[in-house]
Amino acid sequence: MNGNFVYSNPTKLYFGDNAISFLSEELRNYGPKVMLCYGGGSIKKNGIYDDVIRILKDAGKTIIEDPGVMSNPTTDKLMEGARLARENDIDLILAVGGGSTIDYAKGVSVSAWCKDDPWDKYYIRMEDVDNRVIPVGSVLTMVGTGSEMNGGSVITNTQQKLKIGMVFGDNVMPKFAILNPKYTFTVPRYQMVAGIYDIFNHICEQYFSGDDDNTSDYISEGLMRSVIHASRIAVKNPQDYEARSNLMWCASWALNTLIGKGKSGDWMVHMIGQAVGAYTDATHGMTLAAVSLPYYRHIIQGGLEKFARFAQAVWGIDTSKMSVQQAAEAGLEALENWMKEIGVVMSLRELGTTEDMLDGIADATFLLDGGYKVLTRDEVIQILKEAL
Ligand code: NZQ
Ligand code: ZN
Repeated sequence: MNGNFVYSNPTKLYFGDNAISFLSEELRNYGPKVMLCYGGGSIKKNGIYDDVIRILKDAGKTIIEDPGVMSNPTTDKLMEGARLARENDIDLILAVGGGSTIDYAKGVSVSAWCKDDPWDKYYIRMEDVDNRVIPVGSVLTMVGTGSEMNGGSVITNTQQKLKIGMVFGDNVMPKFAILNPKYTFTVPRYQMVAGIYDIFNHICEQYFSGDDDNTSDYISEGLMRSVIHASRIAVKNPQDYEARSNLMWCASWALNTLIGKGKSGDWMVHMIGQAVGAYTDATHGMTLAAVSLPYYRHIIQGGLEKFARFAQAVWGIDTSKMSVQQAAEAGLEALENWMKEIGVVMSLRELGTTEDMLDGIADATFLLDGGYKVLTRDEVIQILKEAL
């Protein structure tokens, strides 16, 4: 393991089909005013809303509802939520939903008492939080982002056409997360598959970077194999508890900083995908899927040995009679076949991207230097064209 690091994760997870029963216990740690954040209404249809409301009422909490958190939450919604939290002097923000709702809750948590413009301070300048923070708890209903156990908060500024992920520290990360795999049974197939690819890509973003002998990579290979195995069962039978529970557990560990230890981290698929999201409002996991193969084929030479290892260790390909180049390419071919098998979107056009958007998307792509190749803007354009 290279590098010096601190590993700490303050989020307490309650996992399993009775996980919600622990919510009342957790609520004792917070004051009476709870802001209940949720999305477009799926929790009202599947009964999760009723479960949560009953527990909040039994605990004697005053509930301030904040519905309508959209996928790819916006700065406008964030400012509205921050005002609501401040005016009601909220003690706990309870996010019930997927990554969008939890990311938004973290944004509200730091913005409610922020004297500056929170978008500029936290998402553009990425400054440390120096104002009062409202604690966040979550009930996860959609698996993929890992937001339930990390500090990430991705917000879209529709006016500026920017989608930016800020990573907050321990004090903003959810204090607790309720993980009931059954709560994910009603997630539409398109979202389920997008979430599966999101998990997989979070692992890739960390795995395909640096190249020392690193325990993180061995953990990553195990997680990737588990995601592939569970995904094949889940796409055939979305009600398979074991598969959905494995996916849920993998998602949390894929992006809670553990497998990033000792790694520089690539994250360019996410940078390009987020820029696509800012222009199209497309589903996050699908934006990643559409750009991944053109990106990895573009950078493959910089990480040939690692892509060859990926073929053997993750996909079980017998690479013994192949050259390193052939093995590396076989790994990406296996990835492509699996993506098609589970049914992710393979082109940007399917997500509403048009040629006239490409310059803007390239401008909105942050160029990072942790992967096998530092891209130029022209290379981003080339990748986008191939992904179209
Ligand atoms: O709005 P509702 O009605 O809740 O419907 C949602 C939404 O339409 C639906 N859904 C969620 N749970 C459901 C359900 N429908 C039926 N039954 C259920 N149990 O699913 C749709 C997608 O939900 P959303 O929260 O938007 O999806 P996801 O969890 O993929 O979150 C995406 C957001 O997270 C960000 C993305 O960029 C995007 O903005 N990310 C956050 C990260 C982090 N915090 O670390 C990292 C990721 O890379 C990602 O960037
Ligand atoms: Zn992601």
